[in-house]
Amino acid sequence: EALARALDALPKVDLHCHVEGTMRPTTMVELARKNGVTLPSDDPSELYTYSSLDEFLAVFWLVQSTLVDRDDWARLAYEAVTDSARHGVVHQECFFTPARHLAGGQDLAVIVAGLDEGLGAAEAETGTTCRLIADMDRAFGPEAGRQLVDELVDLRSARAPGTDRVIGIGMDSTELAVDSTTYAPAYDVARVAGLRLTGHQGENSGAQQIADCLDALGLERVDHGVPVLDDAVLTSRMVEERIPITVCPTSNVVIAHCFERLEDHVLPQMRAAGLLATVNTDDPALSDLDLGREYAAVAKAFGWGWDQMVELALDGIEASWLDDSEKAELR
Ligand code: ADE
Ligand code: ZN
Repeated sequence: EALARALDALPKVDLHCHVEGTMRPTTMVELARKNGVTLPSDDPSELYTYSSLDEFLAVFWLVQSTLVDRDDWARLAYEAVTDSARHGVVHQECFFTPARHLAGGQDLAVIVAGLDEGLGAAEAETGTTCRLIADMDRAFGPEAGRQLVDELVDLRSARAPGTDRVIGIGMDSTELAVDSTTYAPAYDVARVAGLRLTGHQGENSGAQQIADCLDALGLERVDHGVPVLDDAVLTSRMVEERIPITVCPTSNVVIAHCFERLEDHVLPQMRAAGLLATVNTDDPALSDLDLGREYAAVAKAFGWGWDQMVELALDGIEASWLDDSEKAELR
């Protein structure tokens, strides 16, 4: 349909996208074979099945386990950007979550150099720009998070290849039985080093946890933020301070089951309240998605027309960590 085609071509930014979650299932099969990783199925179409956030995270970890050497990271990054650029993504700020790889003996410098190589090649080919956000995996605890940030800051000081592309830190994985404020030491190190600060919160925890993270961690952006409207004080604070929320509507339905249907999502109420709530993919390959289709699905679910969708795309640019002149170029 015409609107869907126009939305696919509309220049958009993706601020909540896990690079591991962009892995094509065919690539996963090839990397698993190359690296001797046993998969539950050799049929690419059967790999990405899950019925809860925990099951999803298990699939995500299996995807991660196929990434072993620098070339694997470069291939993943290259395909992430060439795939997103085909659907109108002109800028993305992509998470990578290396805790499992570092625990398994991989080198952060090699991971970042590999990602940088793939992203650089894809940027040159597509014109889409991509920066990285180093995410702490909450399944590994705050000590491992702090170590990741320390190491990243050291590598940036030493001007290690690709580390200037890492512009911020975040945290992801499970929220259940996790006190995210225990990650404050890691966020303090990152802040002092001039890194930008975001974090997953409010995917399967409440509004209070979001407020706690703003206070204790100084988050400049919140990833997911689904229950924000449950707290009127938090909502007005985020409206007044223009703290962006990187919402992933389809992911919230199919991965975390926050809502039964896209139509039930509170994104329209968030935006009506004046929140800078943007639309992003989360794990596009793992949920058979791209940002063009996500924009079309959102427009259909909420009855939004072209002008509202352009406004949504412009809010994405505002919520990005580009500088003012870079933002102006994209508008
Ligand atoms: N890592 C990748 N996708 C995620 C999600 N939806 N929630 C938490 N951690 C993730
Ligand atoms: Zn996410």
